[in-house]
Amino acid sequence: MLLVSIIKIGIFKINLVYRSRLKGSLDEHVLAYLSSMDEDTSLLPYDIVGSEAHSIMLYEQGLINKDELARILEALESAKGISADELRSMKERYEDVHEALEAYVIGKAGIDAGGKMHTARSRNDQVTLDLRMKVRDDITAIEHAILELVDALLARAKECIDAVMPMYTHLQHAQIGSFSHYLLAYVDMLLRDVERLESCYARVNLSPLGSSAIGGTSLPVNRDRVANLLGFNGIVENSIDATSSRDFLLEFCSCLCITMLDLSRMAEDMVLWSSSEFNYIELSDELASTSSVMPQKKNPCPLELMRARASTVLGLLASIMGIVRSLPSGYSRDLQESKRIAFDIFKIVYESLLIMRQVVSGITVKRKDMLNAAEKSYAIALDVAEELVKRRGIAFRVAHRLVGAIVAYANSHSKTLRDLSMDDLRAALDPFRMDEDSMDMVEVISSIVKDSDPLSSLRRRSSKGSPNPSEQERMIHDREVRSKEYRAEIDARQKELEHTLASLQETVNRFLR
Ligand code: ARG
Repeated sequence: MLLVSIIKIGIFKINLVYRSRLKGSLDEHVLAYLSSMDEDTSLLPYDIVGSEAHSIMLYEQGLINKDELARILEALESAKGISADELRSMKERYEDVHEALEAYVIGKAGIDAGGKMHTARSRNDQVTLDLRMKVRDDITAIEHAILELVDALLARAKECIDAVMPMYTHLQHAQIGSFSHYLLAYVDMLLRDVERLESCYARVNLSPLGSSAIGGTSLPVNRDRVANLLGFNGIVENSIDATSSRDFLLEFCSCLCITMLDLSRMAEDMVLWSSSEFNYIELSDELASTSSVMPQKKNPCPLELMRARASTVLGLLASIMGIVRSLPSGYSRDLQESKRIAFDIFKIVYESLLIMRQVVSGITVKRKDMLNAAEKSYAIALDVAEELVKRRGIAFRVAHRLVGAIVAYANSHSKTLRDLSMDDLRAALDPFRMDEDSMDMVEVISSIVKDSDPLSSLRRRSSKGSPNPSEQERMIHDREVRSKEYRAEIDARQKELEHTLASLQETVNRFLR
């Protein structure tokens, strides 16, 4: 009796929840240094629900009685009212959310009942349970944000099928393309990002609980039941793996990093294309910054920051990989640091997706300037060479040489291909010393060049996945369907999870007194 009251007093005064072996409380600077309370604020809801499922299982297995369960559940329910600020203020007393919540439950339910909540559980399986629950929600949130961006890109692509522009390789004019074709490229990359995340979800959505610290428990727990109650697809079986691996987190962060790289490349394109030199697009005013001194400025600052934050994400990814790199097997406190990094990566990528969606929906596409650039460009050259192959049956390499010579001539005379007269073409092809027979080649080339305005050249492009307008229409429709299908799949999965968690809540409610 005396012992129990000593413990009771101790728990509420200072951080003595776990310190039975150690004398006194943790040094305050050390506590501040090792506390994960800041990042744990986002884990509190998961820690509560996870603890509810665990306690119900303990009751079903005869490890606690009904009254004890009711007390624990009542305390856990009231912990749902703890705000992030309140939790942060407990930082001076507890190392992490797990300790804080257990102390809170013991405070409310008493040591006799509340002190049983942590039976057959360790913080090691508990923290990765919380993480897996948070990451599966984060995956869903990111997938939605990606699909919102995809839909915005598709809407713009629909309007821009005939918005002709040069395409670039080495940042030099390469072939004629269209703005829709460009946007659709990112639609495809982003849809792959969703696929990657969806496949990652399956590996995240497994319960580690019941593994204890590393080696399981001698108490008769039912691991599958807890997994079931929490909407997991199964358990991470091996107790060493369950408590100490973080590959699921690394995979999630890697997926996010790839998405961020997609965004960064788009941001880079748009920064370039909104410059006066390109003038292909203009950002909407509410997304642009200006200068404190130069009155004319319209700066694409959100896009520049997105580009920079992609580097931050890369650095964070290297950090989280580095944490896991040389850890001995089994939980080490190093792993705590991975939470903060993963949460930072999530925040950056999520916010960037929302901003990019706004950018895409709001940009003005300057079709005339794009078309102008395409018309002045030699990016038509490959289409001309291929047309020559088609009309004259000559070897592509020969066509390549002829058109190359024509481009060189036009360039040195500051003309476009379509500006060239018959005399120009003859002069350009003079080095090839054509016989009488091939002289009609000049006429053929002249007629091809005259026919080769950017849009008709796009229409002649026939390969699957090319910027041909009818290909664009087909691809837009196809991607619209796929985006809807993905959304439906994700929503169905999410509904099922919500349904499971609602049933858990009903079960909890039935036990409350
Ligand atoms: N705050 C810790 C973390 O986030 C919880 C696990 C602590 N486990 C331990 N054995 N010290 O990783």
